[in-house]
Amino acid sequence: MCGIVGYIGKREAYPIVIDGLKRLEYRGYDSAGIAIYDGTDLKLSKTKGKVADLEQKINSEISTKGNIAIGHTRWATHGVPNDVNSHPHYSNSGDLVIIHNGIIENYESIKIELIKRGYTFQSDTDTEVLINLIEEVKKKQNVKLGKAVQLALTEVVGAFAIAVFDKNKPNEIVVAKLGSPLAIGIGEDEFFIASDASPFIEYTKNAIYLEDEEMAIVRLNKKIKIRKIKDDSEVTPSMQELKFNLEQIEKGGYEHFMLKEIHEQPHAIKDTYRGRLRAKEGIIKMAGIDDNLEKFTNASRIIIVACGTSWHAGLVAEYIFENLARIPVEVEYASEFRYRNPVITNNDVVIAISQSGETADTLAAIKLAKEKGAFVFGVCNVVGSSIARETHAGAYTHAGPEIGVASTKAFTTQITVLTLIALKLGKIKGALSNSDYHYHLQELELIPEKVEKALKSDAHIKMVADIYKDAKNCLYLGRGYNFPVALEGALKLKEISYIHAEGYPAAEMKHGPIALIDDQMPVIVIAVNKGHYEKVVSNIEEIKSRSGKIIGIVTEGDTSVKKLADHVIEVPETLESLTPLLTTIPLQLLSYHIAVMLEKNVDQPRNLAKSVTVE
Ligand code: F6R
Repeated sequence: MCGIVGYIGKREAYPIVIDGLKRLEYRGYDSAGIAIYDGTDLKLSKTKGKVADLEQKINSEISTKGNIAIGHTRWATHGVPNDVNSHPHYSNSGDLVIIHNGIIENYESIKIELIKRGYTFQSDTDTEVLINLIEEVKKKQNVKLGKAVQLALTEVVGAFAIAVFDKNKPNEIVVAKLGSPLAIGIGEDEFFIASDASPFIEYTKNAIYLEDEEMAIVRLNKKIKIRKIKDDSEVTPSMQELKFNLEQIEKGGYEHFMLKEIHEQPHAIKDTYRGRLRAKEGIIKMAGIDDNLEKFTNASRIIIVACGTSWHAGLVAEYIFENLARIPVEVEYASEFRYRNPVITNNDVVIAISQSGETADTLAAIKLAKEKGAFVFGVCNVVGSSIARETHAGAYTHAGPEIGVASTKAFTTQITVLTLIALKLGKIKGALSNSDYHYHLQELELIPEKVEKALKSDAHIKMVADIYKDAKNCLYLGRGYNFPVALEGALKLKEISYIHAEGYPAAEMKHGPIALIDDQMPVIVIAVNKGHYEKVVSNIEEIKSRSGKIIGIVTEGDTSVKKLADHVIEVPETLESLTPLLTTIPLQLLSYHIAVMLEKNVDQPRNLAKSVTVE
């Protein structure tokens, strides 16, 4: 996720673009840049850091005068956050300049072709490849910029919202969209371009939201032209009147970042497997694994180190790796592991999981594991973070920035990455039959739409939240793959609503927690129709006979739990190993609604921080 902003018109472009970038910083904030056309030449300034760092730097570098500008705030996907990888990117001739939000999946093969034709690259980004592809098409086919962009994009696989400017044609900006958002503000003889409408809300209320596979040319003193990328056919623009305020737009219309991030999960999971999973062909491609395959296939065990929600993702991964790849797994709290003098050999693979990539305990655990000779693999969300740099190899989750302190999309995307790894290793090690492997791949590809469906229970979950919002304690139960989900559900509730909650394996209830059950105790039981379903139903009977209030998270169409529970929340059916990706969703929403009803600060709960850089 990145933020893009552009302006072409009669006003000074710089203040519009720089303020717009500040409003889009929620979309990414590891580097920023701007290109301004001052009437004769194109000036560019970019830097690692926040938009405020760019603002500091820019005055010493370039004049900010000019009526055309494009700017970018970055959330790194390809290439660590540094000055060179920051956007905008020039083409080799220096004539074209681009800003891009998205991921070009096939950039490596395009880059190889361009290098053969003499192109050179300054950065590690997919975006620099795209702008040079546009330049190559423009030159080779002798076409105008708009046509070159259209033709180039037909060669590209991935997601993009782009704005491209040609300094030899300084009266237009070409924009295009697939998968990433792009809004165009229409003023009087002026156009605004942005990832959402927040950068231009005070200038115009008229906007066009480009649809996927559409592109537009915004040209001074001309009407906007929209075309289909695929066949260049013309599309009639559909103008919308903006009725939002600024804050609503930044949060995508959601009341809180947490809710927005919960709803982003279908997209985030897709971004996680984008370019890695080719279900039809039965291929999982992950550079960090492919380049170190022997480490994994020869590993005597995998040790997972993490904290909090990431540790819960590690616990889910324990089930996934052991069942699908038959590799023994141990999951450790990083904070315990680092001080335990653990027995580690160079046959061990350590996987460190961290959203922020900055968690001090996890970082220390990695250093210890490296000292003891283990191969350490990172699963991080923040590109170029300390953990991403400290590990020998890794895989990013590509979830986009997570702003809400309570982790949501980081959890499901971590599980997605770990599932991809386990499936790949399971196939290579022969632990999974061919048909099982293919079935898993197909089902994994369907998860985003099933998450979307699970999110549709939001209103029902809100009603359940209203009934239990005044509970003093809550119990969460699950078995197998869904035991860690019970832990995660309990953590979500306690951290944002401050209600005491505990997660347990359902069968452990009779070894103690059952003493707590009375008619004041809501028990949230994950009881999907897979694994040990009948046993979980028996646990539910035990709760019922002690008058506990039961909220069952069940598979669509369930009848047994429905008969026993006070409420059920349905999730779509999937393979047992993938159920955590669905059962987590209602638990996130339940915690969210309870916290909102209790008027807690959902996005910034007391005493917590997004990135725990102290022990
Ligand atoms: C809970 C939460 C924390 C983090 C933990 C690890 O919602 O966000 O428990 O999961 O602090 O953080 P990362 O994943 O950044 O290492």
